[in-house]
This record gives sequence, structure tokens and C-alpha cells, in this order.
Amino acid sequence: MTHNNLAIALVHYPVYNKHHEVVTTALTNLDQHDIARSSRTFGLDRFYIVTPSEEQRRLAERISGHWQDGWGADYNPDRRTALEIVRVCPTLKSAIADFQNGFAKTVKVAITGAAQRPGSTSLSDFRQLLEDIDQPFLLLLGTGWGLTDECFAEADYILQPIAGNGTYNHLSVRSAAAIMLDRLRGTL
Ligand SMILES: C[S@@+](CC[C@H](N)C(=O)[O-])C[C@H]1O[C@@H](n2cnc3c(N)ncnc32)[C@H](O)[C@@H]1O
Repeated sequence: MTHNNLAIALVHYPVYNKHHEVVTTALTNLDQHDIARSSRTFGLDRFYIVTPSEEQRRLAERISGHWQDGWGADYNPDRRTALEIVRVCPTLKSAIADFQNGFAKTVKVAITGAAQRPGSTSLSDFRQLLEDIDQPFLLLLGTGWGLTDECFAEADYILQPIAGNGTYNHLSVRSAAAIMLDRLRGTL
């Protein structure tokens, strides 16, 4: 089976809290549903939820399971189809290893954040890179107060932030995911 060469990882560790400390954030039901639905809409077949907390991973599996096998599966099959693409992983490394399956080329990691950073790639340039369908790209989205500087230093691509028409650009991760997917995979 050929996999889509773009996948999203929603990272709950390592991210900053309000005091710039590195923490593990709590899973949000809304993030899981909405990012799965946006991902599925734009043709992605894997959406990784990354958290080192075993309890949180169980919760993520339970949320997906409820809509796949439980009462929810009959009640809302559209939601089931979206949540089918969710994969729950303890670390970013394990998410990358899973996404690597089925691709000969090494996964490239693209990271996102609301702040401008030097050497970043525009979404339109990144859209062109995605046209090489043999090259897998994992798009990292943060939680809390965003992904750590170390994650930015290690990524292959830093994507330019989504900008509105003012100085405020702190989007919810769900909105950022939907906007990026539309720009990267949407028809204009
Ligand atoms: C820092 S978290 C904030 C989480 C927040 N608790 C929420 O309501 O979703 C938001 C994540 O969404 C993405 N994001 C937010 N604003 C963005 C922007 N202007 N451009 C690109 N990505 C953005 C980044 O991945 C960022 O790490």
C-alpha cells in the first residue's frame, strides 16, 4: 500500500509551559477529533499523537476506539473514518520510525510555531517539496506554549508562521493545522 507522504504529529512533550519550563501537556479531545478530521479531509492517512504518559496514550486510544468500535461507530461513521488514521506514540522518535515504514527515503521533519525564525521555509515552497511523493515529511505541531528550541534545532525544515493582517498570530493548534493543510494540500 502506498502511504501519503505527509503526516502530522501533535506533540505533547517536549513543549514549554507558560514559565518556559519543558513539560508534558494533557491531551485534548478536541485536538484529536479536529486534527484527525482535517487530516483526513486533505488525504493524510496518519496523524500521530505523541505523549510519554501511558495514561494519556490509553485515553487517546479510548477516544479513537469509542468512535471506531463502540456506540459511536454506528452513530457517526464520518468520525470513525477520520479517527482511523490516529496513531498513538510515546516519543517523537517512535512516530518517525512508524511513519518511515513503506518509504525508502528518510523521513524529513518540518516544524511549526507562531514566531518568526531565521532560515524558515514558506508554506508555498514546502507545498512544492511535497510533490516528491517518495519523500515522507512529518509536520510537527506543538501544544502548551509550543515546541522546544531543541526540536527547532533538530528539524529539517522550519515553516514560516501563518500570518494574519495584524501582529497577533497565536492560533489554536487545531486552526493552525487546518490552515496549513489547506495551503499545503488544498485546491485553490
Ligand atoms: C503553542 S500551541 C497552543 C496550544 C493551545 N493550548 C491551543 O489552544 O491549541 C499552538 C501550536 O499551533 C501551531 N501554531 C499556532 N499558531 C501558529 C502560527 N501563527 N503559525 C504556525 N503555526 C502555528 C504551532 O504548531 C504551535 O505549536
